[in-house]
Amino acid sequence: MHRHVAKPHPGPSPGEPSLYEWVGGLPALHRMTRLFYEKYVPDDPLLAPVFANIGPDHPERVATWFGEVFGGPKTYSERYGGYDWMVSQHIGKALTEEQRAHWAELMCRCADEADLPADPEFRAAFVSYIEWGSRIALENSSPGAKPPMHMPVPRWWWVCDATPGARVSALGEQPEEEKSVSTPRADEPPSFEAHVKPLFRERDRGSMKFAFDLWSYEDVSANADAILAKLRDGSMPCDGAWPAEQVAVFERWIAAGMPK
Ligand code: HEM
Repeated sequence: MHRHVAKPHPGPSPGEPSLYEWVGGLPALHRMTRLFYEKYVPDDPLLAPVFANIGPDHPERVATWFGEVFGGPKTYSERYGGYDWMVSQHIGKALTEEQRAHWAELMCRCADEADLPADPEFRAAFVSYIEWGSRIALENSSPGAKPPMHMPVPRWWWVCDATPGARVSALGEQPEEEKSVSTPRADEPPSFEAHVKPLFRERDRGSMKFAFDLWSYEDVSANADAILAKLRDGSMPCDGAWPAEQVAVFERWIAAGMPK
């Protein structure tokens, strides 16, 4: 007998935004679903008949589903019936591949029109969910389908490590001049201003700006352990790990009580 083994869920690494945060939360998703269901669907020959009976809150309900899937609050589960309700809404609808493909294509068009982030990383994650979800909706809607019930709402994440800041943008600033980084003497406790802050380049600061400011003493000291973990495992900065001596300066600064 095959058992379903739950794999660890992909999820936030320290300092990494969820898709929900990146997209701009529920207001952004709601802008998109309103365009979809209110502006386009009513006059769409393929989709209008499918959605002929939706209630006025349908755009909000679907936006709330997306929000929960993208790592936002679990409002769909708490307020709208969660996974079981969502699945029940597709059962027996006998959707066609033509309708599905058009649904997916139109949702992407509405994402553009609603000004959702257009960066490659976000759109890769977004489109992968739209494709995955819409193909499951199609499968669940087919005559005789028996989708498993009582499953958790999926949680979607960045795909294949394509996270914000994981690559150097071709349109960003050109490589910075090497800054002079002064290493503290062995008997000198490192200070934030003199030794730690200069270790962070403008590019590092830009990549993390959504979460905190790498040039702010308050922010770096509040997140010091998480930052150190990323420096140690080489996942930050994303364009190349720090040399061991720089990591050691950061460690010494923490050990010294994080002097300003
Ligand atoms: C990623 C793909 C999809 C997601 C996330 C999604 C999400 C949802 C959700 C959350 C609901 C329930 C809303 C509520 O009442 O709370 C729903 C209902 C529904 N969905 Fe989907 N859906 C997807 C794909 C599709 C596709 C491809 C079609 C058809 C082409 C479709 C047709 C419908 C219909 C007909 C309903 C019931 C509407 C009503 O009469 O109330 N869905 N969907």
